Amino acid sequence: MSTRITPENLLVRSGLQLKSQDPYVVERMQSRYSSKVLLALQTENPTLIREAYDWTQSLPKTNTCRELLGRDIVIDGCLIGNNEYIEICFVKGVPSVLKTITKHEYNRITALLNIGVSHPNLVSCKLETVYEKYFAITPLFPVTIEHLCGIPVSTAFKLVDQVGNALRFLHTHEFAHKDIKSANICVNSNGDFVVIDFGSTEKFGYDSPSTMEYIPTDVEANPSRPEIDWWMLAMTVYDRLQPAGAGVRTGNGFTRSQLVAWFASKGSEYQRLIDEILSNIT
Ligand SMILES: Nc1ncnc2c1ncn2[C@@H]1O[C@H](COP(=O)(O)OP(=O)(O)OP(=O)(O)O)[C@@H](O)[C@H]1O
Ligand SMILES: [Mg+2]
Repeated sequence: MSTRITPENLLVRSGLQLKSQDPYVVERMQSRYSSKVLLALQTENPTLIREAYDWTQSLPKTNTCRELLGRDIVIDGCLIGNNEYIEICFVKGVPSVLKTITKHEYNRITALLNIGVSHPNLVSCKLETVYEKYFAITPLFPVTIEHLCGIPVSTAFKLVDQVGNALRFLHTHEFAHKDIKSANICVNSNGDFVVIDFGSTEKFGYDSPSTMEYIPTDVEANPSRPEIDWWMLAMTVYDRLQPAGAGVRTGNGFTRSQLVAWFASKGSEYQRLIDEILSNIT
């Protein structure tokens, strides 16, 4: 009995390693080039189907991609950290990150960008909407500080200085970042720290989600106010001073005084670090 000819096995006959391909290409090929695919199947012609496949591959994946392409934004298709909402793109050829955000986040970030965010330690961000989809686009940085474990105290002082400058800028404009943590601080190609992710950034006095593990248990997460950012920075510094594998975990459950006591227990340099952070809280 002969096996039924499918687009997949005809493509394999054309010499394609189907396993390593985007699984949706075949689906898109069938809807875009249905008559060509049909003809290829009827005539069992691998060359014909391969042509349809290659055309499909060279087209933008979806209408959204095509629309973004028209704005000089090319989606690379490579996801960051396997997160389907965050992918690499090129804006006028510059490597960038395209993050799919909610309408709520879009509105919050719009309010923030209206102040004219321009600071060396804050990511620059551009918003796009396409067919009721919302995107934030930022430059791509080499790494976050998540994998920098057990940093020297001098690096911790630089972190406090640079992230602190970014926070003061936001606070001057009455916004709190609300999500300061290791995964939201990148290192740029000059080795400077840059705060990313405005998904929680909110005007003072309003509520927004945050990462509770980075907020001491006796600090209220809402409403938005500067104090939250400084405690989250203290927690982040604590986090990065730990050896690999330690750091902030759910259930660290520090109160403010426990966190301060930890720094004090490590000697005068660490004490200066926490004093410097907390001197910003009025
Ligand atoms: N511009 C960028 N450059 C390099 N890496 C980035 C950039 N933006 C995001 N990332 C990576 O993707 C991760 C998630 O991005 P982002 O923090 O914006 O999304 P998120 O969904 O809000 O995450 P979370 O809620 O965990 O903070 C970051 O922790 C970082 O590892
Ligand atoms: Mg984040």
